[in-house]
Amino acid sequence: MMKNIVWHNYQITKTDRSKHTNQKPCILWFTGLSGSGKSTIANALEKVLYHNGNFTYLLDGDNVRHGLNYDLGFDNKSRIENIRRVGEVSKLFVDSGLIVLTAFISPFASDRKLVRNLVEDTEFIEVFIDTPLEVCESRDPKGLYKKARAGKIKDFTGINSPYEVPTKADIYIKNDKISIENACQQIMNYLVEKEYVKWKGN
Ligand code: ADX
Repeated sequence: MMKNIVWHNYQITKTDRSKHTNQKPCILWFTGLSGSGKSTIANALEKVLYHNGNFTYLLDGDNVRHGLNYDLGFDNKSRIENIRRVGEVSKLFVDSGLIVLTAFISPFASDRKLVRNLVEDTEFIEVFIDTPLEVCESRDPKGLYKKARAGKIKDFTGINSPYEVPTKADIYIKNDKISIENACQQIMNYLVEKEYVKWKGN
């Protein structure tokens, strides 16, 4: 497949771009069940980062599946391809200098690892939004758990398709008791402490 294709090196690098943006590009990879709060926390965090003067982009499962990945379903093979494409896009965005936030269930540990291996060690930050299935199911913001229980959706994560719990997430958020603000604060503290961003204060 790679026949007759030659890699070109760019003259302006990620390091050059970081000098303008004053941040260390990375992927904040949110993973968790449907309804766990990934998108909500990622959205709130992007707002905090924006007001702090950072450059970001949010890739969200539901939205990406309307465009780039409109052709993919929820069988294992499609989910693997979904994450592979999002991983490659995230890698490009990191190269462009952005802090990328992704909100995908990404149920398979091997796929999350694949994305981790696409970028440099410190560029992949796994954020596990740990919300018990019962809580996600009782929230059921899109009514999908109800449909899945009624047998109207096959391969639904947590019901009839597996979710492999991250064992070594970089950031762990127990999201059945924490507020959105505190979850954002926890992630911001990590980013500031590890010098991805500088906190400019309110
Ligand atoms: S992933 O497993 O491939 O990472 P992704 O995050 O892109 O999933 O999409 C999940 C979203 O699609 C859910 O939040 C939900 O709104 C919707 N959805 C529709 N069908 C399913 C299904 N069978 N399993 C999980 N989510 C589904």
